[in-house]
Amino acid sequence: MDKIKIIGGRPLTGQIRISGAKNAALPLMCASLLTNEPLILKNLPRLADVFTLGSVLSHLGVKTTYQGETVGNHQATFHAKGPILPEAPYDLVRKMRASVLVLGPLVARLGYAKVSLPGGCAIGTRPVDIHLKGLEALGAEITLEDGYVIAQAKNGLKGTKFSFPSITVTGTENILMAAVLAQGTTRLLNCAVEPEVTDLAHCLQAMGAKIEGIGTSVLTITGVSSLQGTIYSVLPDRIETGTYAMAAGITGGEIDLIGTDLDLIPTASQTLEMMGMSFKKTAQGFIAKGPSGRLQAAEIVTDPYPGFATDLQAQIMALACVAEGVSFITETIFENRFMHVPELARMGADITIKGNTAVIKGIQHLKGAPVMATDLRASVSLVLAALASSEETMVNRVYHLDRGYEELENKLSACGAIIERVREGSTHDISETAHTFKAAG
Ligand code: EPZ
Repeated sequence: MDKIKIIGGRPLTGQIRISGAKNAALPLMCASLLTNEPLILKNLPRLADVFTLGSVLSHLGVKTTYQGETVGNHQATFHAKGPILPEAPYDLVRKMRASVLVLGPLVARLGYAKVSLPGGCAIGTRPVDIHLKGLEALGAEITLEDGYVIAQAKNGLKGTKFSFPSITVTGTENILMAAVLAQGTTRLLNCAVEPEVTDLAHCLQAMGAKIEGIGTSVLTITGVSSLQGTIYSVLPDRIETGTYAMAAGITGGEIDLIGTDLDLIPTASQTLEMMGMSFKKTAQGFIAKGPSGRLQAAEIVTDPYPGFATDLQAQIMALACVAEGVSFITETIFENRFMHVPELARMGADITIKGNTAVIKGIQHLKGAPVMATDLRASVSLVLAALASSEETMVNRVYHLDRGYEELENKLSACGAIIERVREGSTHDISETAHTFKAAG
């Protein structure tokens, strides 16, 4: 398994181009199932999760071609011309739980879908009960059989009124994609308002869907009989944006982030300013500048958008580890999203967990150490901590990183980081996958 070796302790300065958002790319790719015309996605990030979902879509009969070699000009065409298979098998879905996003489009297009229930993952059980309740409200008959969800709507889905019992990002996306082809009008209440949901709604609109209330928690969809293809550009990744802004913060450097927008991280940027960072908007994004002295402690509670993103929680904890004072970080979205804590402790961090709150007593210097990545965002938290330590850190199991951070080493080394990938054994190199993908195109 690949490892990443880092020797930190130096301010990072330079420019980083932010990739398209992983969590927008995934639902957008599934939207291709809603039409028999080609859907062209620009600024699609070159990530393991994108290729994994691409293989699920290929299995279903979606013709996929992937072009563009450099960050910022990746593009892919997803053409669900048909025939489309209605079944997404366990051995594909288990690799990436967001594959459950094929459920709504499949039952909307075919009137039938059989999708393996996604397992939980390291950060929580992550049920999909609300996804299923929403599909039932649209008239689908849902049965569970041998770990599969079977959704049937012989006479098509019917418009309805459905209020999400709690905020769910992919739940909102699944039901929205199902509703755009339903007969009649659907009114969805208590929708997630993450930018990725808005991005999907804008793409569906460009495909001919009739959606009102985009960007708000109430979406009104007037069903149409069919959608057409379109060309759509994936919005910038706000989690990658926040992560690299924090790399400037933890190293006391200055990074010019391009192809993104400071407004995508409203609460995180405000928190980082309170910790001593400064931001300056530019024509292509913004400049993130670390404090002249030490970072200051902060109190953070994760919340659905526009609150502090749970996907940035592990990262800001790395900053809190070296901040002056005691920080409090409360995780309210997932039940097990502190697995980075023991690994940060191996680097000398002083963190105590009390229920769903981590209490972090800032120290001056983190030690280098061999550490283990456990999930996508925890792994990048360890990279940030390693960038703050002047000793050598080896991050193991970096396949977690490859799921959500495109060309991480290149982007950081371009800003002066001493970072290299140590390839060990026959790993599943992402470029090999990309090459296979293209060949299969
Ligand atoms: C999306 O996951 C993101 N993934 C996650 O990013 C992100 O952390 C999460 O939203 C919250 O912002 C994608 O968009 C692909 P939820 P999702 O449904 O949709 C519970 C990353 O690191 N829930 O909003 O799966 C659930 O258990 C990933 O990029 C139910 O109980 O999250 C959780 O506690 C990690 N029943 C809470 O709601 C349901 O049917 C929020 O989950 C659905 C969700």
